[in-house]
Amino acid sequence: MPFTLRHAHQDDAPALHAILTSPHVVRGSMRLPFMPLKTTEDRLAHDRNRLQLVALDGNSIVGFIELLMNSGTPRAAHSAEVNLVATREEDQEKGVARALMEAIIASCDTHLSIRRLSLIVWLDNTRAIALYKALGFQEEGRMLDFVRTETGYGDAIMMARICKRH
Ligand SMILES: CC(C)(COP(=O)(O)OP(=O)(O)OC[C@H]1O[C@@H](n2cnc3c(N)ncnc32)[C@H](O)[C@@H]1OP(=O)(O)O)[C@@H](O)C(=O)NCCC(=O)NCCS
Repeated sequence: MPFTLRHAHQDDAPALHAILTSPHVVRGSMRLPFMPLKTTEDRLAHDRNRLQLVALDGNSIVGFIELLMNSGTPRAAHSAEVNLVATREEDQEKGVARALMEAIIASCDTHLSIRRLSLIVWLDNTRAIALYKALGFQEEGRMLDFVRTETGYGDAIMMARICKRH
């Protein structure tokens, strides 16, 4: 699919909100199905420790990724976390998340000088785990009953990718 990547804008809030409150994203994250639009508007407010990219198919937002950095903490400034990657439901399995992850990894490996890139993923999210492994992330440990689900509690996996250049 021909799509482009750019940093998120404040105007993206309504389209992003629809993606971030859709059932598959709620299942794969800590998000709730009903959240005010203001939460997404606030999320997009400028923060020097946050990098937020969107993938566009024409003018439509089809994916989102958020990187949280620690630039104000000298001894952790070499580490960052992928807080969320999400693809619009009907655009899954077309390479959107891979492209967003690759763009973030490339930024971390070059301009941002991030050595340790980490993330947390639900144990049952085989799709996301396959993507992260393919991109060089390794499992670091499991957290039991980490997230409340519709039916009980779910375990989570901590993963990280070390860039040896930094
Ligand atoms: C997980 C998610 C981001 C994947 O997005 P996507 O755009 O469909 O992913 P891609 O098309 O880029 O696929 C990337 C990789 O995912 C894996 N993958 C994709 N579809 C898959 C499927 N049906 N089964 C197993 N693995 C699959 C493959 O490893 C694929 O690698 P490839 O590029 O070598 O084929 C998307 O399903 C989503 O938004 N889920 C809800 C939010 C979520 O769970 N985010 C992760 C939180 S940690």
